[in-house]
Amino acid sequence: MIRQLTLNESDNMSADTKQNTITIDGQEIPFLAGQTIMDAALAAGVYIPHLCHRQGLTPHGSCKLCVVDIASKNASACTMPAVAGQQISNNTPALNEARTTITQMLFIEGNHICPSCEKCGDCTLQAMAYHLGMLDGHFPQFFQRREVDASHPTVMLDRDRCILCELCVRASREVDGKNVFEIAGRGTNARLIVNSASGKLVDSELETSDLAAHICPVGAILIKESGYKVPIGQRTFDLHKVSEIGLEKIVLTKVRQPDE
Ligand code: SF4
Ligand code: FES
Repeated sequence: MIRQLTLNESDNMSADTKQNTITIDGQEIPFLAGQTIMDAALAAGVYIPHLCHRQGLTPHGSCKLCVVDIASKNASACTMPAVAGQQISNNTPALNEARTTITQMLFIEGNHICPSCEKCGDCTLQAMAYHLGMLDGHFPQFFQRREVDASHPTVMLDRDRCILCELCVRASREVDGKNVFEIAGRGTNARLIVNSASGKLVDSELETSDLAAHICPVGAILIKESGYKVPIGQRTFDLHKVSEIGLEKIVLTKVRQPDE
């Protein structure tokens, strides 16, 4: 059994049940004290593109895919608290163009050669590119060379595909009760490191059942000996749109264990 997120949408609501509203693309949306714009939007079935956000984990605000316009100022919906009366634009050509540029930058910054990646069809970055109508990487490819860690018996880490979203970092700390991952370095030198004496996964506390081993939105953390079990055409984003509300829970429950 994979350890599950312990919070759900209702957990994020405080005891204060008084409802206020914000407006997203002209739609009035209720929120409760303590909710972010992302919390309120998702609870109301309104999709705001996101990569580093996951319900139940501390917001991180790093990918910037969730950029929205609040009174002509840009803000990250996953970290911005909902405030009564906010007039928010979300699904606009300008914001989607900005999101496309961010997605292009993520693609060229790492090794995202979709046809050769086991995560193809299950990758949220790839699905986001399709969702936004991204046609190419636009920018020159970085061709990063970061260390691959295949030392662990059941989990593999390919840092070249890491988008530094810190979902695995937060899942390990906040759900698994460990501290397996960390981001080190800055700028183009930023990379995922493993908290173990050798720096290798094999010497860490990571177990196959950890949420951190399954939460990666791209093909950076993969479960060994389960590759290509699900044929192309039957993978997550062959069957679902990335904008489907609640999809992340479906994805996690679909994750297969190596011994299945
Ligand atoms: S390994 Fe995956 S989950 Fe962890 S920071 Fe990189 S992209 Fe995010
Ligand atoms: S989802 Fe908000 S910054 Fe990543």
